[in-house]
Amino acid sequence: MKHDVDQYFETVLGITRDAGKIIKEGIARTKNVDTKLGSWDLVTQYDRRVENVLMKEISKKFPSHKFIAEETNAEQKATPELTNAPTWIIDPIDGTTNFVHGFHLTCISIALSIEKEVVIGIIYNPILDQLFTAIKGQGAHLNNQRINASQVEELCKSMVCLESSFACIPSLKDSIMKRTEACVKVAHGIRVLGSAALALCYVAMGVAEAYHIDGLQCWDVAAGALIVREAGGIVLDSTGGTFDMMSHRILACGTKKLAEELVILFKKADASIIKININNG
Ligand code: IPD
Ligand code: CA
Ligand code: CA
Ligand code: CA
Repeated sequence: MKHDVDQYFETVLGITRDAGKIIKEGIARTKNVDTKLGSWDLVTQYDRRVENVLMKEISKKFPSHKFIAEETNAEQKATPELTNAPTWIIDPIDGTTNFVHGFHLTCISIALSIEKEVVIGIIYNPILDQLFTAIKGQGAHLNNQRINASQVEELCKSMVCLESSFACIPSLKDSIMKRTEACVKVAHGIRVLGSAALALCYVAMGVAEAYHIDGLQCWDVAAGALIVREAGGIVLDSTGGTFDMMSHRILACGTKKLAEELVILFKKADASIIKININNG
């Protein structure tokens, strides 16, 4: 079947902008906040509302398309499975913790996968009115202006975006701490923005050189990874292999050289944990 990707893009862009009004209206209001996996994993009535609106409106326009959406997935307690069908991968509010606190780094993230390849990425921060977009092969844009990833090749000249939330998960904690420490010692600075999707957009627009975390889901990174690549950046598995958005591992950088330096740094950081564990018996 022939797909009109440009038409899918234009239609869903309009739907996304409309859904953004719900976030804008909600950010300063009192929310009903529930926790999912722990105190660091929040959901509000707005996350569910945005997701419902997006799925309902996209289904009306494209009834045969499938969805992988964060809150629906959480309710069904399902492991997301990607098929060859056109599938909209939706994070209705990325940066829910920021949203709960009224902190302005929060957005809708939507990607379209066809034959397991992401061809559209849309990330919209309605509070700051920043719309990041990419269609495969057509470059990356912020509010219709072309954006480009940083050309910096060395970690000692880089700003690196990392995450803190998964440091509460015992299996990930040591590695996150050690990798963070390693970056802190070398980089210009690290930032923890609280939105994976926006951090990827900042790599795409060259105001951060790298973004990394292990433990994310496909809806956190699907759109952002395409936007980084279309901005000329590189997206890898954090072990240095090919990126797979279903694998929970991501390293996005402006340049290949910087990515290579970070992969080696992470390997050394992880090896130091194994050493500590051996020494502790
Ligand atoms: C979260 C954000 C955050 C990351 C979390 C994600 P959510 O997504 O991307 O930056 O640290 O682990 O789950 O829950 O706000 O959509
Ligand atoms: Ca969440
Ligand atoms: Ca998310
Ligand atoms: Ca979310």
